[in-house]
Amino acid sequence: MKGIILAGGKGTRMYPVTQAVSKQLLPVYDKPMIYYPMSVLLLAGIRDILLITDRASLGLYKSLFGNGSRLGVKISYKVQEEPRGIAESFIIGRDFIGDDGVCLILGDNIFYGQDLTAALSGARGMIESGESEAVIFGYMVKNPSDFGVVEFDGANKVISVEEKPSKPKSDYAIPGLYFYSGEVVKVASEIKPSARGELEITSVNEAFLKRGTLYCTQFGRGFAWLDTGTPERLLRASEFIETVQNNQGFYVSCLEEVAWRRGFITKEQLRAEGEKLAFSDYGKYILSL
Ligand code: DAU
Repeated sequence: MKGIILAGGKGTRMYPVTQAVSKQLLPVYDKPMIYYPMSVLLLAGIRDILLITDRASLGLYKSLFGNGSRLGVKISYKVQEEPRGIAESFIIGRDFIGDDGVCLILGDNIFYGQDLTAALSGARGMIESGESEAVIFGYMVKNPSDFGVVEFDGANKVISVEEKPSKPKSDYAIPGLYFYSGEVVKVASEIKPSARGELEITSVNEAFLKRGTLYCTQFGRGFAWLDTGTPERLLRASEFIETVQNNQGFYVSCLEEVAWRRGFITKEQLRAEGEKLAFSDYGKYILSL
């Protein structure tokens, strides 16, 4: 399975920073925002990753991650010239995806909780076994109108998906984490831009719902999903990560740790990465592992 991270330059709510650099490079507490979604792909066991960003930020991402070898993965890059919608990822990533399944994660979404690894391998398994063509998640929120919203029937079957509805049919937001079969390339090339002029990810999910192959699983109340898209949410996310890390002593989304625990890099490589960063608490944490 392939992985795509979308980290393009859209974010007028974070003006003026995002005019200069993609906001996914801003720190959430002690590390760049992009580390959090990147850790999710690594946790899902995905080692072939395409990072899509705007032209101005491309060089910064390349100097941060290079070809991915320090994490035992392969990272390649593509530019999205204009923020034409999340679903454009599959058009930009067409050759990269080929016939494989793909997991897309948005560069400003943070996922944290005990059930994450199980949820990821469950979703991946459904795609790889051909049981489903599209797997999305549902997460209860107070403000569903701010997100894509999924509605279920009594048997947990999806009835509808809607993008930022003014009258949401449920309290379940759709987080920015999606698993698809290779069919998504064709589906994304057939959808039409929405009223706001974007190729909506919700239109892709709607197409799979019509085909009868969309599956949605819920993250429970013990799980944390944070969208860091506004200054307030960014601050809250930083506070959350600080609280978890400093209570427990475990780092959230330390990429070197995840890569090592997943068996992508050796203990020696882990130590070498820690030594490069030994001046920082992050580096000291790696060395303590
Ligand atoms: O966070 C989850 C939500 O993400 C979903 O519930 C919605 O269904 C989905 O449409 C999306 O809503 P947002 O309003 O949060 O999307 P936004 O336009 O803010 O873009 C999300 C991220 O993707 C953001 O980091 C910028 C990046 N992006 C977005 C678009 C539209 C790109 O890189 N390129 C794009 O063309």
